[in-house]
Amino acid sequence: MEKKNIDWGSLGFGYIKTDYRYISEYKNGSWDEGTLSTDDTVRINECAGVLQYAQTVFEGLKAYTTEDGRIVTFRPDLNGERLKSSAERLEMPVFPVDRFIDAVVETVKANQAFVPPFGSGASLYIRPYMFGTNPVIGVKPADEYQFRILTTPVGPYFKGGAKPITIRVSDFDRAAPHGTGHIKAGLNYAMSLHAIVDAHKQGFDENMYLDAATRTKVEETGGANFLFVTKDNKVVTPKSDSILPSITRRSLIYVAKEYLGLEAEEREIPFEEVKEFAECGLCGTAAVISPVGKIVDHGKEICFPSGMEKMGPVTQKLYDTLTGIQSGKIEAPKGWIKEIC
Ligand code: PLP
Ligand code: COI
Repeated sequence: MEKKNIDWGSLGFGYIKTDYRYISEYKNGSWDEGTLSTDDTVRINECAGVLQYAQTVFEGLKAYTTEDGRIVTFRPDLNGERLKSSAERLEMPVFPVDRFIDAVVETVKANQAFVPPFGSGASLYIRPYMFGTNPVIGVKPADEYQFRILTTPVGPYFKGGAKPITIRVSDFDRAAPHGTGHIKAGLNYAMSLHAIVDAHKQGFDENMYLDAATRTKVEETGGANFLFVTKDNKVVTPKSDSILPSITRRSLIYVAKEYLGLEAEEREIPFEEVKEFAECGLCGTAAVISPVGKIVDHGKEICFPSGMEKMGPVTQKLYDTLTGIQSGKIEAPKGWIKEIC
């Protein structure tokens, strides 16, 4: 199969229209059989639940080309499970996890020509999403929905790729206790737009959100979980009910323990402790592991010993092992790699 004529190495994290997208509609209490379409537009009623009350949830995963030319994806079952919990929290019907995995496979297979080649540093980003489509004017859940999957080839999320970024402690909150921070709902990202635009204006790459109740504990950024390394090489990640349970972070904890023989723990992290860490990174599907060199807290700088030039040594090992597993160079734990073709 011939690849599209794309300069894979210079891709950023943006949208490029691919040939096919998956669509399944929910009506009268059940999902239809689903289909692929070449139409990249969505036609819905002006009063659709998603437009009036933001009833929409989504997922993000990637397809990779392995060294031996296969196309694979990483732990799609966990994305399917997370979409299920997101949908339940917003009173939406669940798209069954086995159908979710099949739909991901079908959509990527149809867009094979857009899956970046091995070694290009790029991948095919897969965005499953679901939204309420029928008219809703009183505040209540919709009765009809669409589940769709779009794909787009992407490069690094942060400009500069693996170069350490500078972030700031945000004065805005991302998620409330007992709210929706733990699910992947569009509303959490709408909340973060003003904060990210302002951070960029002030010269920062991202926001570090603290817990909304006490503003003393590290939560996450707008699009990734945190990962820290202590001076004695222990991997630590924040535990909170109001952060997204990152699949990358959960995988990295396993990689740290089982592949690298490191101690790794998920626990509450007081912001006061951050200055004691040796390395800091942001982890997620889009971010992979993006190193953080500096955190600015209202003018006070925390500069990690790993510096502003390259990833710290433990972050680098975690990065190499995770991406090695995702690209088939390193043997994966059972069930982590779903072969597409
Ligand atoms: N946190 C937020 C707010 C995110 O949007 C994402 C991206 O999906 C993550 C964390 C990382 O999650 P994952 O590793 O499952 O992509
Ligand atoms: C992902 O990593 O898949 C996300 O959804 C994060 C988003 C900021 C692009």
